[in-house]
Amino acid sequence: MRIILVTGASSGLGAEFVRRLDRLSIIEGWEIDEIWGIARSGDKLAALQKELHTPFRPLALDLTQEASFHLVKAMLHSLHPEVWMVVNAAGMGKIGGPGEISDQDTARMIDLNCKAAVEMTSAVLPYIPRGGRIVEICSTASFQPFPYLNVYAASKAFLYRYSRALSRELRGRGISVTAVCPYWVKDTGFIGNARQGDGGDKIRGFPFASEEKTVVRKAVQDVLMRKPVSTPGPVCTVHRAAAKLLPDGFMMDLWELIRWL
Ligand SMILES: NC(=O)c1ccc[n+]([C@@H]2O[C@H](COP(=O)([O-])OP(=O)(O)OC[C@H]3O[C@@H](n4cnc5c(N)ncnc54)[C@H](OP(=O)(O)O)[C@@H]3O)[C@@H](O)[C@H]2O)c1
Repeated sequence: MRIILVTGASSGLGAEFVRRLDRLSIIEGWEIDEIWGIARSGDKLAALQKELHTPFRPLALDLTQEASFHLVKAMLHSLHPEVWMVVNAAGMGKIGGPGEISDQDTARMIDLNCKAAVEMTSAVLPYIPRGGRIVEICSTASFQPFPYLNVYAASKAFLYRYSRALSRELRGRGISVTAVCPYWVKDTGFIGNARQGDGGDKIRGFPFASEEKTVVRKAVQDVLMRKPVSTPGPVCTVHRAAAKLLPDGFMMDLWELIRWL
């Protein structure tokens, strides 16, 4: 059995990855037997299932819970699928300064954005064949320190570094790893959820925000080309270059202006 596994499949970028890969797999004849979609909202996964041509296995799981990984690992062990692609899109962020983000939310950001992505990647790795692909949804927030998005940006920097080094480690096995680094995406659940809480007003505007369809179309192209880093849009590309050339202090000063726009 050949499968694609997508976390965060109930909404936003994860759901759009599922739709796009479903369409492409039919058009390109990838012979995908099943797409497995993971998120907590079983109802949203069931709604997505109705849109697809490829058989879809909805797995309503909370990836901050160790029991969820026991179940995924047991399924992999018993069905022994070939994981043709894994997309780790499950993630969350919270905006706020010191004392404005609860300990619970801080822990959830680290657990989901870092630990769950690494644990899922390790769980599926033995099942990924030569030619397979790993996709880690990072962010342009991984390119520099971000005041008032501090822990979120640090968690994405972790995932970005992990992805870059893993792509080298797996080169000899013919498995590619792509770190997808979008800038703000305005039509997913992310910004609304990130603003909920005491510090939500610390970022007033989201100028130049892009849309999920455009981001995923470009990201999938980059993944298929086996690029180690995907900056799906001109703003992400400029941001990556600027953060490489300019000191962190300057980039944070610039951010101080942008977050009030
Ligand atoms: N939107 C942006 O501006 C932006 C920019 C750069 C990077 N990103 C990254 O893109 C990824 C996707 O975000 P999005 O913009 O598509 O936001 P989204 O619409 O809020 O999607 C987040 C997904 O993660 C799932 N999720 C959240 N907590 C989970 C948990 N504990 N266990 C399992 N699944 C969980 C959600 O499903 P349930 O709630 O059903 O569990 C949902 O499917 C994230 O990693 C985010 O950091 C987003």
